[in-house]
Amino acid sequence: MNEMIQFLKSHRSVREYDPEKDVSAEQVQAVIEAAMAAPNWINGQQVSVIEVRDLEKKAALAEACGGQKWIEEAPVFLVFCLDFYRAMLASEMHKTEFRLPEELEGVIIGSTDVGIALGTAVVAAESMGLGTVPIGGVRKKPQTFIDLLQLPEYVYPVCGLVVGHPRNIPDKKPRLPLEAVYHKEIYDSGIQKDLIVQYDEIMTGYMTARTNGQDSSNWSAKVANFYDKRILEYKSISESGLKKQGFRI
Ligand SMILES: Cc1cc2nc3c(=O)[nH]c(=O)nc-3n(C[C@H](O)[C@H](O)[C@H](O)COP(=O)(O)O)c2cc1C
Repeated sequence: MNEMIQFLKSHRSVREYDPEKDVSAEQVQAVIEAAMAAPNWINGQQVSVIEVRDLEKKAALAEACGGQKWIEEAPVFLVFCLDFYRAMLASEMHKTEFRLPEELEGVIIGSTDVGIALGTAVVAAESMGLGTVPIGGVRKKPQTFIDLLQLPEYVYPVCGLVVGHPRNIPDKKPRLPLEAVYHKEIYDSGIQKDLIVQYDEIMTGYMTARTNGQDSSNWSAKVANFYDKRILEYKSISESGLKKQGFRI
């Protein structure tokens, strides 16, 4: 296994930062440039990233994300937006129909572009010894982001990324067994339940150790609870937020 792959496999999300240690402008620029170099749909470059360092603004955004204190603790919060504002301008320049806002496909295109850019940014930041944690909580109150970041139409906040110097790096979170995710030629649905049971045991052990016994819940219980209850925190919010930004799906 080469060093890059070993490095990629050592990823952990960080939720404890040293507020005294800054992240330089050069480091942030390097992260964004790496993200911009990532593959993207039709080279349309449907992503914009807003850097937030202002303490008051970070506090308001942390609150909007459900009170995630690591957003305030770290010096830099990057907000990754799907962005069709430039595509709209291109359509205007060429006097063509701008059909994108009516298509669900637009959200898929923008979200995959954001995901790839975000993943690349994580690797770039980690390569400089920085810690990160993505923040999907931005979609709990997207209007706060739209207002405070002055996002124009066709621009929507999909995910944040906290960047800072780790104060504590957690143990690597175990993943599902390889066979659950990696299928050859056809999808093997028959093996999934057994693999989930196996993984549940591993995750119970991991969480118990990580939280000093305070959380011993397993993976399937967490996922089931999210798609039953916690998903409601996002329900129809994304839909109305996207509408507000000009999407008409
Ligand atoms: C799109 C996305 C959104 C996420 N949103 C949050 C979030 O709002 N808050 C948080 O603490 N972690 C968030 N995470 C981090 C995941 O919880 C974390 O990646 C996962 O538990 C695996 O742990 P690891 O990254 O340490 O391996 C998010 C991750 C992704 C990819």
